Amino acid sequence: MSLLRIARPTIVRRSLLTTSIRCKHTLPSLPYDYAALEPAISGRIMELHHSKHHQTYVNSLNSAEEKYAEAVSANDVRGQIALQPLLRFHGGGHINHTLFWENLAPKSSGGGEPPSGNLAGAITVTYGSVENLKKNMNASLAGIQGSGWSWLVRDNATGALQIIAMPNQDPVVGKYVPLLGIDAWEHAYYLQYENRKAEYFSAIWDVVNWKAAEARYKAAT
Ligand SMILES: [Fe+2]
Repeated sequence: MSLLRIARPTIVRRSLLTTSIRCKHTLPSLPYDYAALEPAISGRIMELHHSKHHQTYVNSLNSAEEKYAEAVSANDVRGQIALQPLLRFHGGGHINHTLFWENLAPKSSGGGEPPSGNLAGAITVTYGSVENLKKNMNASLAGIQGSGWSWLVRDNATGALQIIAMPNQDPVVGKYVPLLGIDAWEHAYYLQYENRKAEYFSAIWDVVNWKAAEARYKAAT
């Protein structure tokens, strides 16, 4: 009996290597000098706020993301869930401060100049005037207990403007598009204003970059 040897097809097994390339977050450069927002915000506050506080959020976000990626690779769902508060805090800190720097501009570059265009129209419809919006937002800021932010947002479900306060570093997500945010953490004002935070909330409007808010509003509509 002849044995018919049938050549078995060669199966080339290739390991499926999933290569993920994750870019690390970096501290964005400021488009103005640290002292350029004086007297509303001192250069020393800006230097510490940007180079120390924001840098720490960036570093800690990168670290948390690395641990999260390890937990995903290990199929460790409990580990992933345990890391989510860190991602929220440091990811939010990075997002919020990046928006904040864009929200500010020296007076010589248009800081404090009132909004125009469609955003100005929407503010008038909702709040009556920019001055009244400022009062509402300052009341929101004054009402924050502990650390947090107040934001002028666009509700994408209704198209309406709204002021919302967020605790800690919780970022504006979901149906809300952040247009303008003000940092009410003590690290944003205490070195200069100490316990007089209402003075900081009043002064910061002198260096608000409404053009950045207008651009976000335009992109959202
Ligand atoms: Fe801050």
